[in-house]
Amino acid sequence: MTQLPGLLDVEAIRKDFPVLDRQVHDGKKLVYLDNAATSQKPRQVLDALSEYYERYNANVHRGVHVLAEEATALYEGARDKVAAFINAPSRDEVIFTKNASESLNLVANMLGWADEPYRVDHETEIVITEMEHHSNIVPWQLLAQRTGAKLKWFGLTDDGRLDLSNIDEVITEKTKIVSFVLVSNILGTVNPVETIIRRAQEVGALVCIDASQAAPHMPMDVQALQADFVAFTGHKMCGPTGIGVLWGRQELLEDLPPFLGGGEMIETVSMHSSTYAPAPHKFEAGTPPIAQAVGLGAAIDYLQSIGMDKILAHEHALTEYAVRRLAEVPDLRIIGPTTAEDRGAAISFTLGDIHPHDVGQVLDEQGIAVRVGHHCARPVCLRYGIPATTRASFYLYSTPAEIDALVEGLEHVRNFFG
Ligand code: ALA
Repeated sequence: MTQLPGLLDVEAIRKDFPVLDRQVHDGKKLVYLDNAATSQKPRQVLDALSEYYERYNANVHRGVHVLAEEATALYEGARDKVAAFINAPSRDEVIFTKNASESLNLVANMLGWADEPYRVDHETEIVITEMEHHSNIVPWQLLAQRTGAKLKWFGLTDDGRLDLSNIDEVITEKTKIVSFVLVSNILGTVNPVETIIRRAQEVGALVCIDASQAAPHMPMDVQALQADFVAFTGHKMCGPTGIGVLWGRQELLEDLPPFLGGGEMIETVSMHSSTYAPAPHKFEAGTPPIAQAVGLGAAIDYLQSIGMDKILAHEHALTEYAVRRLAEVPDLRIIGPTTAEDRGAAISFTLGDIHPHDVGQVLDEQGIAVRVGHHCARPVCLRYGIPATTRASFYLYSTPAEIDALVEGLEHVRNFFG
């Protein structure tokens, strides 16, 4: 097996992930390279989920019985784990949502309904980038349409980076919020957070970071990032689906209004009006994703037992190897940075004029799972004049041998389509 400096003990790690042992299409070994879409789950997370349902299941914050208290302790314990994982100054800054999309929609709606000085209205501007996932475009389009605010964005350079050459014209005194992705799900680009935040702070704009493709792969420190909001999702970081996180600065969460109303988010309710619980509960209406939060807590324990810095080094080594190997495939064009520098482990490419859906299908027949399409980032495809890409994305259990299998698989695709 190819050895690269910085790799984890993948053989041991893979034993924790039952699905990685699967065979598909009559005995082909599964090569799972669709980790940017969702990660696989280790036994430790699966066990935590079944243990929760087998021993503790109850609704939280509502009961006086043993199970209700234990379930509440587990749910709130998961909040403590998330807070520690992202170095949040306070556990009350961690809001559980259903996914990163809901977290980003929550921020957009808080600002749409906020009083001054946070209110987004027809005299203000919202700034995003052309490399956002649709979940960080559409909520802002909706907010702009509903308030009359102007939506602006940073464009992209030919090599898949943000074009910040006009940063002072894009982020201005009118900017209320700058929302951008830390690591692009389609290009793999790691964005220069500090430069953008410095400019946003100069004009007093809030900053929201979509960390969906960052939190699973690198150490996260919301205090070092200096943003106002950070959104991410559980299912890409070994946790279950149905759980997302919004971290927000405490004073903002205290001042900003709720978005969803319902049980659990109130202090008192009369037929005329209501008052609200303090954050984070003000933003968690209804029965929350309890088991999912417990599963996310177990995923965080798992990732931390390996070490986020080690996971980052592992994926960096794989990414270096992958860009080198993919460069050997004739007619392959990487869409995004072509070196591993400031780049995550999702690599999109085109292969001559073979449609990515055909590439994906022939790879699948060989047991290799990749994602094809616009990856919910269609403006990126429009920018580069392509209908879609094929994307391979790695995680802590990915191996150089799987990258070799991908390269061989792509040779097969080329032969197949002549
Ligand atoms: N956002 C996920 C992806 O990029 C679904 O594939």
